[in-house]
Amino acid sequence: MIVSNNISSRGMNTFGIEVNFSTVISVEHRDDLFALAPYLENREVSILGGGSNVLLTQDIPKPVLLIRTKGKQVVLERETYDLVKVEAGENWHNLVLWAVEKGYGGIENLALIPGRCGAGPMQNIGAYGVEIKDVLHSVSAYNLEDGRIYTFHNTECGFGYRTSHFKTKWKDKFIILDIVLKLTKPGHHITNLSYGAIAQTLDEKGVIQAGIKDIANAVIAIRQAKLPDPVEVGNAGSFFKNPVVDNSVLNAIQKVQPEVPHYPVDDSRVKLPAGWLIDQCGWKGKQVGQTGTYKNQALVLVNHGSASGSEVYALSEEIQQSVLKRYDILLEREVNVW
Ligand code: EPU
Repeated sequence: MIVSNNISSRGMNTFGIEVNFSTVISVEHRDDLFALAPYLENREVSILGGGSNVLLTQDIPKPVLLIRTKGKQVVLERETYDLVKVEAGENWHNLVLWAVEKGYGGIENLALIPGRCGAGPMQNIGAYGVEIKDVLHSVSAYNLEDGRIYTFHNTECGFGYRTSHFKTKWKDKFIILDIVLKLTKPGHHITNLSYGAIAQTLDEKGVIQAGIKDIANAVIAIRQAKLPDPVEVGNAGSFFKNPVVDNSVLNAIQKVQPEVPHYPVDDSRVKLPAGWLIDQCGWKGKQVGQTGTYKNQALVLVNHGSASGSEVYALSEEIQQSVLKRYDILLEREVNVW
């Protein structure tokens, strides 16, 4: 365990925002958890994974826990799949590359998502037709209240679109220690090419029978073209969730803009791309002071260098207001605001 005081947050969040962390506790091994107690007043902590889905708007007086545990191991072998246990501190994209290299299927559509493995279940990371809940077997987590380790099966985690109990009712109560993924073996992969852009990219590359490596490469190419690399431009991916609205809302928009993209959720509701709504309100690529939206994807708010969290938050409010005014839809933030 490494404990440091008065640390700048800048290198610890992909937005590259500077606030002061009073105490940072880096958990390197599981056993470190048992030494945490003296540092936890009222058991209050903020748990930071890769800092890739957080907007820091103020100094953080509570201890900030960094989970840096490493390792992965096959815990069960079956004919068609293996269960692979991965420590929370492992980098997610490296895990995807490792899986693809080993011939394991299931997470290739989730290539290049920034962050660490422990954050995956928290917001049920997803991209290109796949969410982590589709391959997640179980999660082990340390309960800060009673000091015990619990294992939650997939169905107990309360997964929804970009959410789970870890993000809502269990927030800052449980530290995710490891995730167990059910990954398919060669000959048993169930590939997902439902997302138009993947099929199109594979087509352009002349790939006919797409394997998991082809899919991972297509996803990497699409993400690199559309989304900013946090190393170059501070950002936290999609800033808002895609809103789910009644068919009547879609019909009203279609009367004026028949081209509005939409995806069915059930018989009475559709999901609308927040990026499209924001783009239509004229925000794409707009710079406001040190913040703005990304030139290729209006749903991504960026830090052009020295933006404060409050500046980014204020822009997000302005965007919310203009979408509300034009479409009567209130966008909900996807990033965690601290
Ligand atoms: N669009 C615009 N203008 C824009 C942005 C998007 O017109 O500025 C349109 C696109 O042309 C497309 C539609 O909106 O018709 C959807 O855009 P895109 O395919 O880029 O996907 P998205 O719905 O904006 C979601 C996820 C992403 C994920 C992609 C691919 C959410 C909030 N975002 O974005 O996740 O990578 O689908 O599956 O669900 C993230 O969560 O951080 C993230 C990047």
